[in-house]
Amino acid sequence: MDIRFLGHACFELSEGETRVLIDPFLTGNPKAGAEASEMNPTHIFLTHGHGDHYGDVVEIAKRTNAQVVAIVEIANELQEEGVENVADPNIGGTVEFDGGWVRLTPAWHTSTTPKGTANTPAGLVINLGGKTVYHLGDTSLFSDLQLVKARDHVDVALMCIGGHYTMDRHDGVTAAEWVGADTVIPCHYNTFPPIETDDEAFKSDVESKTSSKVVILQPGESHSV
Ligand code: NI
Ligand code: MN
Repeated sequence: MDIRFLGHACFELSEGETRVLIDPFLTGNPKAGAEASEMNPTHIFLTHGHGDHYGDVVEIAKRTNAQVVAIVEIANELQEEGVENVADPNIGGTVEFDGGWVRLTPAWHTSTTPKGTANTPAGLVINLGGKTVYHLGDTSLFSDLQLVKARDHVDVALMCIGGHYTMDRHDGVTAAEWVGADTVIPCHYNTFPPIETDDEAFKSDVESKTSSKVVILQPGESHSV
């Protein structure tokens, strides 16, 4: 699987003909790794409705007919917006697709969509090509982060570390210990001044205190697992 970081909390996971786009905030993202018009996903998954995650979902979904997976309140709004190929799980629910599955997990945060629809934020546990990727979404540190590994070995964790709106890089070290992934890729930092942080310090702290390796990607860069 190729994991391409597209800036902020946006990633594209590719395996064979399947291209999963997560939290497609590209237009208006000062650190975007691609243009929304370049994206051609088969699936789009949303962690929650905030604009820095919801982003270009409507435009990309309508243009590509990619299947969108989002918590039920967001899914309903997307259908009202004219997006046709939508799955609407709630926390704990799994959606299967060709080549894998995705499950929504709890995340401690708040959320409404840009249009004002209230929704519970989620993390995403994604299995694609036999590998498991856990996108934590926007969250504080909380002990249930460790529940994911009780069921599936986590190959890669995509983890917010910017602070202010989410946990910071210090809580991220404990999160990395609890998630227990082979590889941690930090995100949701340095996009805007309030979430500036030291990613190299996060890397050295995680690698000295846990068994995880940290891979720092610049927007547009990829990592293969
Ligand atoms: Ni948020
Ligand atoms: Mn956010």
